[in-house]
Amino acid sequence: MASRILPISKIALLSLLICAALVSADQEEERDIDDQKLLLGFKKEKLSHFRFYWHDTYSGRNPSAVRVVEPQGNKTTKSGFGSVTMIDNPLTEKPELGSKLLGRAQGFYGITSREEFSLLMAMTFVFVQGKYNGSTITIFGRNRVADKVREIPVISGSGLFRFARGYAQASTYSFDPVSLDAVVEYNVYLLHY
Ligand SMILES: *[C@@H]1O[C@H](CO)[C@@H](O)[C@H](O)[C@H]1NC(C)=O
Ligand SMILES: *[C@@H]1O[C@H](CO)[C@@H](O)[C@H](O)[C@H]1NC(C)=O
Repeated sequence: MASRILPISKIALLSLLICAALVSADQEEERDIDDQKLLLGFKKEKLSHFRFYWHDTYSGRNPSAVRVVEPQGNKTTKSGFGSVTMIDNPLTEKPELGSKLLGRAQGFYGITSREEFSLLMAMTFVFVQGKYNGSTITIFGRNRVADKVREIPVISGSGLFRFARGYAQASTYSFDPVSLDAVVEYNVYLLHY
């Protein structure tokens, strides 16, 4: 009995493998054609707008923001010039931390002004929902926190955001001066394919 079944299951396995190979070759080809269209300019760029909330949490047992560099004792300024914070901040749909998680902001920011609270932001937004799952954009630029709306360049992206360019507008939703916890609304405008 077993010896009769074996050849059939071998054939089944073989045809499955061939099918899998054909499917992945197909996907590969599709991707190549997509890239060619893009390079030849046949694919239209589109403008997308995304809005979400960035949670910078220093307090509690599981902070998403950690100060990793402090200026030397005798080199401090009022602005905190020289300090660096590493972040793994959740990005949510609504201002509440418990609302739907859309992605995470991973990177760091440092205080780059001796005079005022002005930052250099260097972070990757990695998205986790639906078709955007795994796609990223990279934000890099100055953030003068006292301004109502700060504009920071989006320098590029990956996955669905390959070749992306654009800008992010950040505005503080809430800030606790004691814990330094902040919620910031981000509006991102992206040109991408
Ligand atoms: C600043 O601190 C460093 C080390 O803590 C010390 O070597 C240096 O002399 C100090 N500089 C001044 C101007 O006090
Ligand atoms: C996103 O992708 C990861 C693996 O890359 C997977 O584990 C996860 O379930 C996906 N999430 C959603 C919401 O599709």
